[in-house]
Amino acid sequence: MKTAITEMFGIEHPIIQGGMHYVGFAEMAAAVSNAGGLGIITGLTQGTPEKLANEIARCKDMTDKPFGVNLTFLPTVNAPDYPGLVRTIIEGGVKIVETAGNNPAQVLPFFKDAGVKVIHKCTSVRHSLKAQSIGCDAVSVDGFECGGHPGEDDIPNMILLPRAADELEMPFVASGGMADGRSLVAALAMGADGMNMGTRFIATKEAPVHENVKAAIVAASELDTRLVMRPLRNTERVMTNDAVEELLKIEQEKGAHLKFEDIIEQVAGVYPRIMTEGDMDAGAWSCGMVAGLINDIPTCQELIDNIMAEADAIITQRLAGFQAA
Ligand SMILES: Cc1cc2nc3c(=O)[nH]c(=O)nc-3n(C[C@H](O)[C@H](O)[C@H](O)COP(=O)(O)O)c2cc1C
Repeated sequence: MKTAITEMFGIEHPIIQGGMHYVGFAEMAAAVSNAGGLGIITGLTQGTPEKLANEIARCKDMTDKPFGVNLTFLPTVNAPDYPGLVRTIIEGGVKIVETAGNNPAQVLPFFKDAGVKVIHKCTSVRHSLKAQSIGCDAVSVDGFECGGHPGEDDIPNMILLPRAADELEMPFVASGGMADGRSLVAALAMGADGMNMGTRFIATKEAPVHENVKAAIVAASELDTRLVMRPLRNTERVMTNDAVEELLKIEQEKGAHLKFEDIIEQVAGVYPRIMTEGDMDAGAWSCGMVAGLINDIPTCQELIDNIMAEADAIITQRLAGFQAA
């Protein structure tokens, strides 16, 4: 399939694996890129320029195909060495960066000068337009369904994607709730040039996470996510578990007086315990409503091949059949 996104990134299929904390290691990115999609290493999981350089080198050993690095700008006191991470990405020869979390204006000139394409993840039309105006190459439009941070507007993709299509001039991919060929065709129908998936890629053979995480996603239904940190205007969609229910109880008790410190036990530093050790009640971890559509653990190649075959069948048989009738 050829779209503005496959052309821009030099990939075979318009499918991107979004950056994911403690999931987006070289193994994940390389598996998606080798299957014809765009794999993305999560920069902040590595944390330092030295470790990120090593991860980029490891990914290059595993794939000759294009891959990207995610750079998430977090509201944090101890900011990571962003200038160092930017330099590492450029010196590592990575040509695609996914930015997220905040306006990437400060880092954009460095990437532009180095010929790096920037796709910025946005949860609203106004942020997408801003990304376009400052010179990003594309956006990933993340609807309310998404795992991770859906923003505070709560607009699902059925509305958000056509709204983005109406306003944007640059290419964009649909993100949040995407799982299969139906998602891809729907995204294309609503004006997107491809799709970005997070949760779906965790339940794959190559995802370098504990088997308990994959099993939890397969077992979950679309009813099993919760929104946490809403009172802090840092909303995150996570899989429910004992720690999350405790967190929500604290949020309710503290009301408008809630501070980050009140819930630090449930959210800070929990990712290695969940993703690496498989301690599924250790804290809050991002997961999309799309878990309800995930019932298997294929290889990335099988997943992407199935998506493309299903999309092709929908377009050439189901949709063309309606037209013929
Ligand atoms: C476990 C997990 C961790 C994530 N970590 C990040 C991150 O560090 N930075 C980021 O920009 N997005 C992160 N995301 C969001 C994904 O890149 C993607 O936008 C989102 O998962 C799309 O929604 P979906 O899960 O419904 O496919 C994360 C998502 C998950 C599920």
